[in-house]
Amino acid sequence: MKNKFIYVAAVVAAAVIVLNACRHEILNPGNGGSGGGGTGGGTPPAVSSCSPDTVYFVNSIMPIIASNCTMSGCHDNITHADGVDLTTYTKIVRYVVPGNAANSKLYKEIIKTGSERMPPPPMAPLTAAQIALVQKWINQGAKNNNCVGSCDTATFTYTAAIKPIMTGKCVGCHNPTNLGGNIDLSTHAAVKVTALNGKLYGSVAHLTGYSPMPKNSAKLSDCEIRQIQKWITAGSQNN
Ligand code: HEC
Repeated sequence: MKNKFIYVAAVVAAAVIVLNACRHEILNPGNGGSGGGGTGGGTPPAVSSCSPDTVYFVNSIMPIIASNCTMSGCHDNITHADGVDLTTYTKIVRYVVPGNAANSKLYKEIIKTGSERMPPPPMAPLTAAQIALVQKWINQGAKNNNCVGSCDTATFTYTAAIKPIMTGKCVGCHNPTNLGGNIDLSTHAAVKVTALNGKLYGSVAHLTGYSPMPKNSAKLSDCEIRQIQKWITAGSQNN
């Protein structure tokens, strides 16, 4: 009788864990985040220019993981679904064998298909380009590296400047399936709505009164923030 009770309790507990493994609604933890996090143990100094042959953690990998894995209900520092928290470099490399992507849990999860894959359906899978970056970063030693990207404030069209920032650092948490803060940043029309109400600039510039963005990742560079500001001032066009 007692054993049966323990068995039933275990099954119920397991079911609860599975059901809660990755809730897709967005919960507001209410702390807005510090905004500066993302690398754990401090952001490493940036080398002065990005080598095209190197994949950098701060520039490419943390933004992919932050916007596709660390939304509330998944691998953030509050939920840590399945015990996994992917909000800092130190925590991420627990699932990595440096130099060996094929043996790294992080990589194995993102190349799975069907309901097994991470991020799980209905969230979009990582793109082939994102998966290739993660693979290359691990095979290059999974370093906590950082570089000053070639960003030019004279470039501020939607296509050349805004969309790449949104796609790389925001859309995973702000799309119709995963509507963080009820905000969609997956199309020009949707980004424009957020630009016009002041929230886009307020959040990326970390102005008082706005939730600092991108959540769980380093603040955008001054150049990227300036590009967003200039695009908004010029009318948030679909250019
Ligand atoms: C890890 C998930 C995540 C990422 C990445 C992320 N956001 Fe958010 N965002 C949220 C959540 C959740 C909210 C709701 C408020 C909160 O919890 O802080 C939010 C709120 C916002 C808001 C409303 C802010 C306010 O004060 O009303 C804006 C604007 C926004 N995000 C823009 C962005 C932009 C731009 C990026 C990329 C540079 C980005 N977010 C990246 C999850 C994310």
